[in-house]
Amino acid sequence: MSLRLRAGLITTAVVGAGAVILAQGAAFASVPATPPAAPGHQTSAPADSLRSLASRVGLRIGTAVNTDALASDSDYRSIAATQFSTVTPENVMKWDTIEPTQGAYNWAPADQLVAFAQQNGQLVRGHTLVWHNQLPAWLTAAAPSMTPDQLRAVLKKHITDEVTHFKGKIWQWDVVNEAFNDDGTLRDSIWLQKLGPGYIADAFRWAHAADPKALLFYNDYNIEFTGPKSNAAYSLVQQLKAQGVPIDGVGFQTHLDTQYGLPDLQNNLQRFSALGLKVAETEVDVRTTLPVTAVEQNAQVGGYTSTLQACLAVRDCISYTVWGFGDGYSWVPAVFAGEGAADIYDENLQPKAEYTALQQTLALAAGAQQRGGGDRH
Ligand code: XIL
Repeated sequence: MSLRLRAGLITTAVVGAGAVILAQGAAFASVPATPPAAPGHQTSAPADSLRSLASRVGLRIGTAVNTDALASDSDYRSIAATQFSTVTPENVMKWDTIEPTQGAYNWAPADQLVAFAQQNGQLVRGHTLVWHNQLPAWLTAAAPSMTPDQLRAVLKKHITDEVTHFKGKIWQWDVVNEAFNDDGTLRDSIWLQKLGPGYIADAFRWAHAADPKALLFYNDYNIEFTGPKSNAAYSLVQQLKAQGVPIDGVGFQTHLDTQYGLPDLQNNLQRFSALGLKVAETEVDVRTTLPVTAVEQNAQVGGYTSTLQACLAVRDCISYTVWGFGDGYSWVPAVFAGEGAADIYDENLQPKAEYTALQQTLALAAGAQQRGGGDRH
């Protein structure tokens, strides 16, 4: 599997790591309609858990789940069940896991996660149907010599079969992931090369046909920062809406790094939602160079706090998802040399200041709402 290297991709929005200003007094009010919990018994989550606090302000709080850890680590399993109200499979709904050999589907790992979610009253973010990474080897080998019609048929079958398999069990699908380069041009993937830019609209149409009730998202990174990439994503989804393509939302991955400062996320979420779309923060983590200094950890705490505040301040921001919760299981050290400590629990699954920051931000929002302040919804 090839890993995309993203170190140093954010070159424009450099602000000092110390320039963490927390928006105070953000307004939060009534609870937006939250989808019903999936069937199954609700794990008794403590009142001060992230999921209990988030439910008081009508927000779903989620995590990516490493299904190996879920099977082998009971502390991991317990935190995943009690702290979060949605889960995203970190890898097991990607094409290389789902169809490692052409025509031979491997649904079991993802089915197990869906069952875990149902047992714990959690919703599922499906991730992801069309991407340039983690494609099965048979596809990467065959794609260059396929005709456009052949490749289109393969993609349509993949989307149709996967969405149909999970029909009725997925709250939000990341239909297309990371279609843009940082300069706002479309990524030169096999999809663009063979099918042209229309593959994006086609993917949404095929997903909608297979599960009309799932919310369909475009998902990307570095679109939290205003600039060419976020503008390109904005134009894309504006056009899709205008053409009647069934798109419901935009996912802002929100993989932050203390050395690049914080995005103007609230304004950005707001302008996308003004197009009539839902928005979500889908893969939040805040990495830094190791070993972590106190200044860097302050910046990480600020990153978690301000990204959650941005979501809380935008009424159509329906979920806030961290990309894993324990530093020992994080994807960061393997991809960004010398960086880590990006998650809200440490390597021993003990909550860090970043966890407390999310907890307090939610508690403040719930308190403000109870006092009738603000106008979140
Ligand atoms: C990452 C996983 O966390 C890793 O375990 C895997 O090896 C590579 O992919 N953007 C995405 C996610 O949309 O799917 C990526 O997940 C992280 C970046």
